[in-house]
Amino acid sequence: MTSNIFSPSRLDANQHLRTRKLITYCRTADVVDVGRAAFQTALNALSNTIFSVDLADPVSDSAREFKEIISSIMEVAGKPNPVDFFPFLAIFDPLGIRRRLSVYFGKVIDIFSSLIDERLEKPKEEMNDVIDILLSMPQEIDRTHVEHLCLDLFAAGTDTTSSTVEWAMAEALKNPETMKRAKAELEEVIGKGKMVREGDISRLPYLQCIVKETLRLHPPVPFLIPRKVEEDVEVSGHRVPKGSQVFVNLWAIGRDPKVWEKPLDFNPLRFLNSEVDVKGKDYELIPFGAGRRICPGLTLAMRMVPVMLGSLLNSFDWKVEGGKLEMDDKFGITLVKAQPLRAVPIPL
Ligand code: HEM
Repeated sequence: MTSNIFSPSRLDANQHLRTRKLITYCRTADVVDVGRAAFQTALNALSNTIFSVDLADPVSDSAREFKEIISSIMEVAGKPNPVDFFPFLAIFDPLGIRRRLSVYFGKVIDIFSSLIDERLEKPKEEMNDVIDILLSMPQEIDRTHVEHLCLDLFAAGTDTTSSTVEWAMAEALKNPETMKRAKAELEEVIGKGKMVREGDISRLPYLQCIVKETLRLHPPVPFLIPRKVEEDVEVSGHRVPKGSQVFVNLWAIGRDPKVWEKPLDFNPLRFLNSEVDVKGKDYELIPFGAGRRICPGLTLAMRMVPVMLGSLLNSFDWKVEGGKLEMDDKFGITLVKAQPLRAVPIPL
């Protein structure tokens, strides 16, 4: 993954093309479902890197179906499951969680499987994308592995990214000062109406602060991925016995008044002259996790989110459809907005 999917040379290629499609779509739309549009952009970015196809189109049904399946997976996978506490119940699957997940996973695997079939049927020409590389190493990984690796990547990389863009837009709409400052920075650094490219991000510190502040208050993976303790350990005077399942509550850490001043305020400026970053070194802000299990898509996400968010902010003025903004969240394995953000793009 590090050398073929997330390497800097691959990441740089063509990201902005996907965002241009998003902006073009917004130009034609009266109202934009921001999360859904961002989801499709993230999906296209990933499906292009891996399969060299646009799996999503802002208007297509297949993309909508794909998003619905992924959202359902996130919701069902995050439901409290009595089996975690009473493993002997596993064979009964009391809430039907395993059964439902199997159906959803099956549907997504079917989509990847037909994409792989298409590729295998094609005459052997060098596509040089990820699926080409994966299929040409049969000793190490077989077809089932490839299908499941794709499932893992698409499930982990789409909803998380789009939910961050959606929350960031919602916060910008809720906080006019933030919106104003972000737009002013964009106008000054890249010019009004232009799209943000990867290379611009380092020159947009305030935009980066908005992304961090969004990830602090709305971590898309609020409990990280559950871990199991390999041996008895003691943490801050508490004994954690071998075999325990451990959840890291990022949501609570992000709102802890002992760590953050006025934690409930959305204030990107708190990061402006701060060294705190999301790379797993500062434990007060670990939306991508930390250590060996840290999210392998961190670099990709930290390019996709500002590119999409900055381009949306810089290409239009925005207002909330109906004027009322709901900020409640809905918990699954990912934490998403309970009410999708529907915003009206106003051409500049
Ligand atoms: C804002 C966007 C994202 C956030 C907040 C996020 C967050 C996370 C977190 C918290 C974990 C678990 C880490 C742990 O348990 O310590 C994780 C795992 C993972 N992420 Fe991301 N992620 C994002 C985007 C992406 C993208 C774009 C990809 C790639 C396409 C990706 C691929 C993965 C994979 C494959 C894993 C599983 C790693 C494993 O099996 O241990 N993520 N992510």
